[in-house]
Amino acid sequence: MTVQASGVIPILQKKIQQSIADDISYAEFIETALYDPVRGYYRRKSDKIGSSGDFYTSSSVHPVFAWVFADYFYDYLTRCNAPYMICELGGGSGSFAKEVLSHLKLKHPEFYNELHYLYVDVSEDHLAKAQDQLASFQCVSFYQSTDKLKSAQGTINGVVFSNELLDAMPVHVVEKREGVINEVRVSIKSTEKLEEVIVHKVQPEIEEWLNWSGLNIQEGNRIEVPLKMNEWVDEMSALIESGLLVTVDYGYSNAEWQEPSHRKGSLRGYHNHQLIENPLLNPGQMDLTTHIHIDSLLKKGKEVGFTTISCTRQRDFLLEHGLFNFLYEHQNPDPFSKESRLNRAIRSFATPGGISDSFHVIVQEC
Ligand SMILES: C[S@@+](CC[C@H](N)C(=O)[O-])C[C@H]1O[C@@H](n2cnc3c(N)ncnc32)[C@H](O)[C@@H]1O
Repeated sequence: MTVQASGVIPILQKKIQQSIADDISYAEFIETALYDPVRGYYRRKSDKIGSSGDFYTSSSVHPVFAWVFADYFYDYLTRCNAPYMICELGGGSGSFAKEVLSHLKLKHPEFYNELHYLYVDVSEDHLAKAQDQLASFQCVSFYQSTDKLKSAQGTINGVVFSNELLDAMPVHVVEKREGVINEVRVSIKSTEKLEEVIVHKVQPEIEEWLNWSGLNIQEGNRIEVPLKMNEWVDEMSALIESGLLVTVDYGYSNAEWQEPSHRKGSLRGYHNHQLIENPLLNPGQMDLTTHIHIDSLLKKGKEVGFTTISCTRQRDFLLEHGLFNFLYEHQNPDPFSKESRLNRAIRSFATPGGISDSFHVIVQEC
């Protein structure tokens, strides 16, 4: 495999010059490939989400996804008598926020007038795009990290939402061989040819996480270890004083990870809407993603004081919270009309094999 001498390769070369190590963890590789401040995939200026990018998210498919959540947030915040505060983490280029705010402004203007929307994304490129898209909504404040948000706003009482944030976080990778758990790392001896290297000893934090998670790893199987996700849950518990943590993402339960089709783990790349099986290709020039560990997210949440309100398949969540209310009766035969597109998106969100597949909506409260 030959990698292109662009992307984050110069950063990896610097690591080789500075370090006596021959290899780095997958987590360090992903951190560099996605979030290096200058050359990381998410930090560079480029179209990443939507038809001109590398992948779609539900927010980019159709506004109806955001409209259902807007009504859900409205119901919760008005029922709880909580301050009208919605915080979106990893909001990308702002499509979800734009549709939530437009919908609330139209349907619940009094609520909208008291609403404060806090927008966080680590990517300067996405922040700039979001600021552009959301320029007409005075109630939005923008931050590049939850630390900056917390310094400015203090703790949050309200709703904290993310869509496909956790699947973009760095992970370690392990594999069981001859009864022993090994760490799969990335050799940086040569940046001409990035290769995996199997290291027999795993770091204590990884071993601790594996014991804690309750995962049973079968011989020959590979799996991602999301230490960052657990750190994030700690961060959320410090950030949210009272309210909901609503997390939407694709993921598997511990039982689902046992299925034969998941024995190689889930780390993969996306480039021009194509799935790239080798995550070491095109470093810095393609998205990298993993399915999240649902049981661990719930378990860690409980440990830090969250109560699990629900953990539902996205399709069921959307149906339960009014997706079909947006169906539009019309006689327009044009398949590309606004009405036809809306109804088609609703069908796709609601049916197996559509865009809701393997997504979950996890609602935790504290
Ligand atoms: C897969 S994209 C999803 C974007 C958007 N939520 C959507 O549904 O279209 C992940 C986003 O999370 C952002 N991100 C990743 N880690 C982050 C972090 N720790 N804090 C804030 N944003 C983060 C990335 O910059 C990127 O915009």
